[in-house]
Amino acid sequence: MHKSAAIGIFDSGLGGLTVLPFLKAELPHEQLIYFGDTARTPYGSKSAKTILKFSSEITDFLLRRGIKALIIACNTATAIALPELRKKHPELPIFGIIQPVIQRLSRSAAPGERLLILGTKTTINSGLYESGLKVLRPDLELGAVACPTWVPLLEEGVRDGAFLDAAIQYHLPLDLVKNYDSLLLGCTHYPLLKNSLQRLYPGLKLYDPSESLVPVVKEGLSELKLLAEQKEAEDIFYASDLSSNFLNMITELLPGTDADTRFRDLSIPPEF
Ligand code: DGL
Repeated sequence: MHKSAAIGIFDSGLGGLTVLPFLKAELPHEQLIYFGDTARTPYGSKSAKTILKFSSEITDFLLRRGIKALIIACNTATAIALPELRKKHPELPIFGIIQPVIQRLSRSAAPGERLLILGTKTTINSGLYESGLKVLRPDLELGAVACPTWVPLLEEGVRDGAFLDAAIQYHLPLDLVKNYDSLLLGCTHYPLLKNSLQRLYPGLKLYDPSESLVPVVKEGLSELKLLAEQKEAEDIFYASDLSSNFLNMITELLPGTDADTRFRDLSIPPEF
């Protein structure tokens, strides 16, 4: 695979877009092809079989676009599909989001830090963050909470207001949160809640998964001699439903980008 090929990146919807400002800052020469499965979001409450099927379809679609590497910008799809996708595509470098976060936290968390892990039902039920951190940092005090109402609200474009505050506090009552020093935003949608979380729980440290993922991608591509030397083509954003919320999020997160956005129904046979 040539270094000038694009990096594929996908999420269940618009959440994975929160990774892009970090990626573009660190890897400005890379062409990115993003796929948001907006027609089938959320993944977090679906069965493992369904999440695996959706993730495989998107990977196949991105491979047909000639990508040189794949980033799973979704904790849920990483938890369920990463091992299977690596087995199915041994030639393709695939970066999941969970392991880089564990590695970074294991280096940066304070001694005895009390960390509350937030994620979708699937991510929390997988127990991957907890088991990984327990091995590397047995001193940390860990808790975990699934916050299944947040992704649907964010996909609907609800970004502030009393309704969103109520949804946040429904999963994170003060009685619980007061026992922690930090929150791990274990879903790529959740950085969109940073302002609300900071206002509702001042003083708590927030960990954004992108900060951990992007250096690992850069290092991995560099080791494989796959880093692009110059930007040869514009980024492309595909969505299985090109909703106005998806388009607005691209404009918000990547201001000034002349985004090439395309609709793609994955039920269309590949030859079309
Ligand atoms: N952004 C996905 C994640 O990181 C959200 C999953 C969902 O669609 O529920 O887990």
